[in-house]
Amino acid sequence: MVDPHVFVILGGTGDLAARKLLPSLYRITDNGSAYPVILAVGSRPNSDDGYQRWAATALVRAGIGADDAATWARQHLLYEQVARDAASFAGLRKRIEQVESDRGLPGNRAFYLALPPAAFAPNIDNLRDCGLNDGPGWTRLVVEKPIGTDLESARSLNETVRGAFAESQVYRIDHYLGKETVQNLLNFRFTNPMFESLWNRDRIESVEIVVAEDLGIGSRAGYYDKSGALRDMVQNHLTQLLALIAMEPPNSFDAERIRNEKVKVVEAIAPIQLENVVFGQYGPGSINGEAVVGYCEEEGVAPDSTTPTFVGIKTYVNTWRWEGVPFVLRTGKRLPKRLTQIALTFREPALCFFHGVPDGCEVANNMLLITLQPDEGFSLGFNVKSPDTDTKLDAQALRFSYSDVYRRLPDAYQTLLLDVMKGDQTLFVRADEVEASWKLYQPLLDHHPAPHIYAAGTWGPAELEQGIALCGSEWMGR
Ligand code: BG6
Repeated sequence: MVDPHVFVILGGTGDLAARKLLPSLYRITDNGSAYPVILAVGSRPNSDDGYQRWAATALVRAGIGADDAATWARQHLLYEQVARDAASFAGLRKRIEQVESDRGLPGNRAFYLALPPAAFAPNIDNLRDCGLNDGPGWTRLVVEKPIGTDLESARSLNETVRGAFAESQVYRIDHYLGKETVQNLLNFRFTNPMFESLWNRDRIESVEIVVAEDLGIGSRAGYYDKSGALRDMVQNHLTQLLALIAMEPPNSFDAERIRNEKVKVVEAIAPIQLENVVFGQYGPGSINGEAVVGYCEEEGVAPDSTTPTFVGIKTYVNTWRWEGVPFVLRTGKRLPKRLTQIALTFREPALCFFHGVPDGCEVANNMLLITLQPDEGFSLGFNVKSPDTDTKLDAQALRFSYSDVYRRLPDAYQTLLLDVMKGDQTLFVRADEVEASWKLYQPLLDHHPAPHIYAAGTWGPAELEQGIALCGSEWMGR
C-alpha cells in the first residue's frame, strides 16, 4: 500500500494535467491503489471549488462519467495559486503544512513539474529555497520530458536538480517506459530462457525499432519546430526501447541494477555515422484517404523550416553480445499508420539446403515481431513446407495478442504515477542515462543532414532505402 501523501501538481491547470495526470490519478484512486490528497498549483486565481469544476470537465472529456468526475474532484482536489516568487512558494509550503495537519498526514510529498521546460529550473530553485525539497516524510520530484534540448542544457538541468534533490528523490518521466508492453520487454527477455539463449550476435542478424505515427504536429508547432524528431522521439523513447532490448540481465530486479545495465548500453552505442542517417520532413499527401498539408504549411511553422519530422538511423552496440549487429531506428510523423514495433531478424540456418532449388523456394529468416502499439502482441515467424509441393516454403507465424487474453491495458501515466507514490524508480530515467543519450546524438544535432521531403502517408523518404540497408522492409508492408 502507498503511504498517505500530498501529490502536488505544479502546472495543475495545464494540458498535461487535464489530459493525462488527472484521469490517471482518478483511476489510481478508483481502483484503490492509493488515496493521495492532490494539490493543483497554478498561476491564475481560483478557488478549490472552481478548480474542482474545471477538473471534473477535464475528466469527463477523458471518458469518465459526469457524476463520478464531480464527486471525485470534490473529494480529492485542492487548488493553490502560486506565482514564481519566493513569497508565493512560502505560501505554498504553508498550505501544504496546513493540509497535512488538517488531514493528519505524515508529511510525505510528491511534486510533479507539469510545466513548460523553461519553468523547470526556476521552480526547482523555488522549492529548494522555501525548504520544500526536504520534508518530515519522503519528498519526491517528478520531471517531465524534455530533459534538456541538448547535452549542455540537460547537464545544466541535472545540475539544478542535484542542487536541490538527491537522485533517489528524482523521477524523470519517459512515458514509453510506463507502457505495459514496454515493461513487458524485461519480463519477456528474462523469464523466457528459450528466447534469452538466442538473444545475441550469434543468432540475431539485425534489430529494427520503428515508432510510426499517422498524426502530424497538431497545434504543437511552437514546441515541435524547435525540437524535431531526433529530440522529440529518438533521444528518449527509441533509445529507451533499444536499451531494454540490448541490455544485459541485471543481477536483480532492483531499480538501480536495471538502470545500471541500461546506461551501459547507451554508453556502448557506436558513434552514429552521417552516412547511416536519413532525415525527412513530410510534404503534402494523404492519410487514410484524407488530404493533409505538408509540415511547412502547418500553422505556426515557417515555410522554409528544415526541422525533421522523420529520422532513420543505423547504428551498432559495441558489446560482446551485439558486436556487428545493426540496430535500425526509425520514427516519423504522417506515416501511413500508428505502429510501434520491434523486429528481431534471426540469422539464416548454418547450412541451408533449399536455396536455389527451382519452384521459387525461398527460406525466410525467422523473425520475432514485438508490437508495442496498437494491436499489442508478439508474432514469431517461421517456415513451413507448403503441402502438395516438393520444396515450396511458406512463412507462417505463431501469434499472441494481448487483446485476446487481457482487458484494457493500463495507461502509461497511471503506472508511472503509482510508481512515484510507491517510490519505485525502475521505470524512470537516471541523470547519467539522459546525459549519455544526449552525448550520443549531440554530433547529429550539431551537423545534421538536410531533410528529404516525403509525401504524407508514405513510409518516409525514398533515400532511406539507399542510405540504410533495411533488414526487414517487408514486415511493415512497404
Ligand atoms: C511524445 C512526443 O513524447 O510522444 C509526441 O512529444 C509523440 O510528439 C508522442 O506524438 C508519442 O507517444 P505515443 O504514446 O502516442 O506513442
